[in-house]
Amino acid sequence: MAILKIARMGHPILRGVAGEVPDPTALEIAKLIDDMYETMVDAEGQGLAAPQVHVPLRLVIFRMPLPLPDDGDGGGDEDARRRRPLRVLINPVIEPVGGEMETGWEGCLSLPDLRGKVPRYSNIRYSALTPEGGTIEAEAEGMHARVVQHECDHLDGFLYPQRMEDLSTLMFESESKYSRAAAEDGDGGEEDEYDEDEDEAVGEDEAYDEEAELDRAS
Ligand code: NI
Repeated sequence: MAILKIARMGHPILRGVAGEVPDPTALEIAKLIDDMYETMVDAEGQGLAAPQVHVPLRLVIFRMPLPLPDDGDGGGDEDARRRRPLRVLINPVIEPVGGEMETGWEGCLSLPDLRGKVPRYSNIRYSALTPEGGTIEAEAEGMHARVVQHECDHLDGFLYPQRMEDLSTLMFESESKYSRAAAEDGDGGEEDEYDEDEDEAVGEDEAYDEEAELDRAS
């Protein structure tokens, strides 16, 4: 196995349309998946698409964003996070289910240290080939749906800023604490005067927490 170099925004490999994998069971595909996995773990990402490691093929890997067992401290432990099953999609096809969209934070290993709020379909159906030569079909919602859409966008030359509606939310991770503080304070920090604002702040906070799950998505 080897740790591969990750292409960063601006490299032309990230703007191209990747080609179909002719034989998902080929030995070089198995090696590519191993190397991509090692690269993703090393970079502490949640997902990775082949074009991000300079291979223009329609292949993505990601950890299934399953709910973590509560460790009593408001979230799952880091070991549980690492044990999340890996999913490999070869020549994936996505279809939105219903037209509902939701906006949430995303990051990407090709845009180190940045994050932004991206609208995605809330519910999708997808199918793909597996490295074992089979077919996988799944329905996804929420974070699972978001990760699949983010990864598969890499296969068509899209990075998440191209999907953003509000570029003012594109920011460095180190500065996102201000967004959280603003969400906790509500607008201007009036105390309990506007219940609606408070509801909104809670929503923001949840979005922030969810994003922490997706930390450096891919
Ligand atoms: Ni990405």
